Amino acid sequence: MRFYWFIGGDAGAWRIVKTQRIMGDPLPAAAGLQIISGTAPPAEASGAAWVVRGITSNERYSTRLEKGQLAAKQEGLGRPEATRAALIPLRKNAAWWGLTQDERRSIFEARSRHIEIGLRYLPAVARRLHHCRDLGENEPFDFITWFEYAPSHEPAFNALLAELRASEEWKYVEREMDIRLVRVSPKDLLRRRCRSASTSLHHSQGLRHLFHFKFSHSLASDINRLSISKHFFRLKNPLSEISLKRASNQNNEYQ
Ligand code: HEM
Repeated sequence: MRFYWFIGGDAGAWRIVKTQRIMGDPLPAAAGLQIISGTAPPAEASGAAWVVRGITSNERYSTRLEKGQLAAKQEGLGRPEATRAALIPLRKNAAWWGLTQDERRSIFEARSRHIEIGLRYLPAVARRLHHCRDLGENEPFDFITWFEYAPSHEPAFNALLAELRASEEWKYVEREMDIRLVRVSPKDLLRRRCRSASTSLHHSQGLRHLFHFKFSHSLASDINRLSISKHFFRLKNPLSEISLKRASNQNNEYQ
C-alpha cells in the first residue's frame, strides 16, 4: 500500500513528545499519532486534532549512482531499537514549483547536497518520503517526511536537520512542522487499546480460546509489527502469533 494517513489525536502507536512550528501555519497539538495505510479515509480520522496524508512515489531526483549508494546504506522502518521518530510535513513555495526539473535538481543536489548530506546519516536514520501535492487542490503540505532512529542518534538527526535547513533548498520551504515522537511500548499500547475497545472471548475449533478484539486496522499492523502477541502468553489461554493471524483472517475487523 502506498497511501498513508497520519492522524494526530489522543492515542496511537506513537506518543507525540514535541510539536514545533518551524515555518508557516502550525498544526494543533496532539498527544498521539496513528499511521494508517489505505486510500479510504479511516474511521480514526474523525474527531482527530489533525490529519495529513501522502503517497509514496517514484524517485524524481536521484541518479543511478545515488540510488545505489542509498540502497547500500539505508535501513527499513520498524527496527526495534528505533524507538524515536520525527514527522516533518513540508510545503514548498510557488517559486520552487515554477522551476523546471533540471533547475530543481540543481538546487536540490548540486547546490544543497541533500542526498550527499543525507547519506552521511545512514543507516542511523531510516526514512520514508510521502508526496501530497498531486492528491488534490487543498492539500496543506507538499511532502510528509517520516524518520525513525534510536534515542542515541537523536543528536545526529538534529545535526542533519540543521544542515538541510541551512541549505539553498530550504529557502523555498514556506511551511514546516517538526513533530517528535516516542514509540509506545507494545505492552502499553495493548493495555490502552484493551481499555478502549470491546473485547470478547471466542472458541476456535474447540482447541483454545481466542481473544477477539474489535480493533481497527491499525492494531492489526501493530500486532504484526511489534509482536504484541508475545504479551498474550501471560494470559490463561495463550495465543500464538499464527492463531492470532488466523483470527485476523476470519474476522474482517482486522482487515
Ligand atoms: C536521513 C537522511 C536523508 C536522506 C538519505 C535523504 C534522501 C533523499 C532523497 C534521495 C530524496 C530524493 C528522492 C527523489 O529522487 O525523488 C529526498 C527528497 C526529499 N527529502 Fe530527503 N533525505 C534525508 C533526510 C531528509 C530530511 C531530514 C528531510 C526533512 C526535514 C528531508 C526532506 C525531503 C523532501 C521534502 C524531499 C522531496 C524534495 C522534493 O521533491 O522537492 N530529507 N531525500
